[in-house]
Amino acid sequence: MQKWIMSGLFIVACGLAVVLMFSLPGKEEVAQENKPQMPEVTLSAEQAETIVANNCISCHGDQLQGNVGPNLQKIGAELSAEQLYGIITKGNGNMPSFKDKLKEEEIANVALWLAEKK
Ligand code: HEC
Repeated sequence: MQKWIMSGLFIVACGLAVVLMFSLPGKEEVAQENKPQMPEVTLSAEQAETIVANNCISCHGDQLQGNVGPNLQKIGAELSAEQLYGIITKGNGNMPSFKDKLKEEEIANVALWLAEKK
């Protein structure tokens, strides 16, 4: 009888260990916690172009050719959508932060749009 209880407990403990292994955040997830997380959006070029026209071309030029800010015409070859999302969200040097001006989804959409520019 006792044996049954012991092995039953053992199996339950094993099950718990497996569940914990999968539910605890991995190292990578912990490392990413400080980075802004890009929400998943489907690219809408039309919306991206409107947002960029209203917010970015004063510094980056109406063809993204650069002005006060750098040329962004081939920015997708250098930066991934996640990196672009981070820069637009947090700003960088003289590049302003858009965290309070645009919605996360809007920034993500612009990031996806720019990432296609290669
Ligand atoms: C007030 C002017 C200004 C506005 C408005 C602005 N930017 Fe910038 N941006 C800059 C400057 C200046 C830099 C260069 C920053 C640095 O590296 O010091 C920059 C850098 C960037 C970079 C990184 C380029 C690289 O080669 O590393 C990206 C991407 C970018 N801007 C996207 C945007 C987007 C998208 C918008 C609109 C939502 C925007 N910017 C609006 C001035 C601006």
